[in-house]
Amino acid sequence: MPSGTATVAPAARAIGRVAVPGDKSISHRYALLAALADGVSTIGGYSPGADCAATVACLRRLGVRIDTDGDGRLTIHGRGLTGLCRAQGTLDAANSGTTARLLAGILAGQPFDSTITGDDSLTRRPMRRVIEPLTRMGARIDSRDGRLPLVVHGEALHGIVHAPQVPSAQVKSCVLLAGLLAAGRTRVLEPAPTRDHTERALGAFGIPVEHDTDGSVGVAGGQRLAALRLRVPGDISGAMFWAALAAGTPGGRLDIRGVGLNPTRTAVLEVLRRAGAGLDVHADDEHAGEPAGSLRVAFGAPRSFEIMPADVPGLIDEIPALAALAAMMPEGHTLAVHGASELRVKESDRISALAAGFRALGAGVDEYDDGFLLEARPLRGTEVESAGDHRLAMAFAIAATRATGTTRIRGASAVDVSYPGFFEELTRLTTP
Ligand code: S3P
Repeated sequence: MPSGTATVAPAARAIGRVAVPGDKSISHRYALLAALADGVSTIGGYSPGADCAATVACLRRLGVRIDTDGDGRLTIHGRGLTGLCRAQGTLDAANSGTTARLLAGILAGQPFDSTITGDDSLTRRPMRRVIEPLTRMGARIDSRDGRLPLVVHGEALHGIVHAPQVPSAQVKSCVLLAGLLAAGRTRVLEPAPTRDHTERALGAFGIPVEHDTDGSVGVAGGQRLAALRLRVPGDISGAMFWAALAAGTPGGRLDIRGVGLNPTRTAVLEVLRRAGAGLDVHADDEHAGEPAGSLRVAFGAPRSFEIMPADVPGLIDEIPALAALAAMMPEGHTLAVHGASELRVKESDRISALAAGFRALGAGVDEYDDGFLLEARPLRGTEVESAGDHRLAMAFAIAATRATGTTRIRGASAVDVSYPGFFEELTRLTTP
């Protein structure tokens, strides 16, 4: 469990400029693909969080040389599609579901066995969703009842068509990465579209991704990846905590720069508008198929808002930030979330832990199997528990700026998973 207690004081101000750390999802993918490429790739703006450090550590254990220059820039000496080496000991994905699931896809097609494990939170999360398709492709995987540790016995793989029950970019990516190593074609047909960073990154590394009219995506196995110079845009999921701060603080106005604006991640911006936030978006950059730009978010005319099942796959990671915004609204405003049972298998049970934290802060929260109803009420300084979840620690911290007294957030160091320096930035942006 992450340690550390952070103290958040009430604040009446949210004005300034902020640049967010590199996108976590894109960073993982660039590192993994660079490791499989032929030649030397560089990645600027790599996420400084512990999740993406876990991917680097695992790749190093698999024999990949990775140099860092201390400025968020990695140089990755690719080993080619089948050039990874058997790791000495276990691969530790720490808190990172993306590391464990995407790596499983790559290791399923390598000619050696690997063991993937993680921290207490990750070892509770479901892995059958990747074990099942990888097994159908020909891999053998032992698990502890569908959970980590996974022992992946790499085999010669063959392509499949996979239609997962739950929309998941991690599952899609796992299967597509295994597809690179499989004979024939591999396709994934999702029940709803999810973030497409893997598809865009594959295209940039020179691997054509087939898009079918039914929405499925596919790759042909055996193609080589060409090394690249890459730059990771800022993380829109991290940016949404600042958006909530600006939109939830009377007079608030924040410029958030260098944010990734991939359309499969921007559904949250529409929801911010529905919630009455002032929002200007300037997309002015694009790199390796990933658009980026700046956001200006301001306090507007707060309105009750809803997140419906069809919205959920496009903004699953932003629900804690949106809950913070709702909790900061004038009394009686509500946020209703439906069809989000996947929140229960994230870094924490994000429905229960979110409800407990916002209730402690003074909001009214009704919890359902697949969502919750949060009602804004006067917030008070209190003690809340992050449940080891970086996004909850940040959500509680943002809402706590509107409380009448000081709030203590236990397990606050969880923010290091995606946003080291978050609390310092919060102080900077809220201090006159
Ligand atoms: C991610 C996909 C999502 C998301 C996670 C990152 C990714 O998870 O919640 O934070 O990088 O592919 P699922 O694939 O489990 O929905």
